[in-house]
Amino acid sequence: METLIKHAKDAMKNAYIPYSKFAVGAAILLKDGTIIKGSNIENASYGLSNCAERSALFSLYSQGYKKEDIVAMAVIGKTSKPISPCGACRQVINELVPKDVPIYLANVKGDVKKTTIKELLPYSFDEVENV
Ligand code: THU
Repeated sequence: METLIKHAKDAMKNAYIPYSKFAVGAAILLKDGTIIKGSNIENASYGLSNCAERSALFSLYSQGYKKEDIVAMAVIGKTSKPISPCGACRQVINELVPKDVPIYLANVKGDVKKTTIKELLPYSFDEVENV
């Protein structure tokens, strides 16, 4: 857990944050030992900004890994309490990460909350039913 959070903290350095100046880092541990990092990448058209969680997950899938490969995820930011992923990221995590994978939410002060996407997004929209 500490190592994964350390990698997430490291990813904060790669955040592209000219607008909010708020750096977020994410790190995902895979079964083969690989750690995939992600940072928030902003845009002058604010709505096109990408959160650290989604950066990490899109990178992971783009490299050929998938849901079954994920062991744990960590997210960190400079918040007073452990960081809380936004609604959009919760929906994306729900799609791409198994329901019971531990998700460590942290802040730079050292507070950590261990959770799962099942807890973060109850009664989720999971599948499109074709009629
Ligand atoms: N942000 C993340 O990357 N992850 C979170 O969990 C919360 C918010 C980013 C989006 C934006 O670049 C900045 O933090 C301020 O909202």
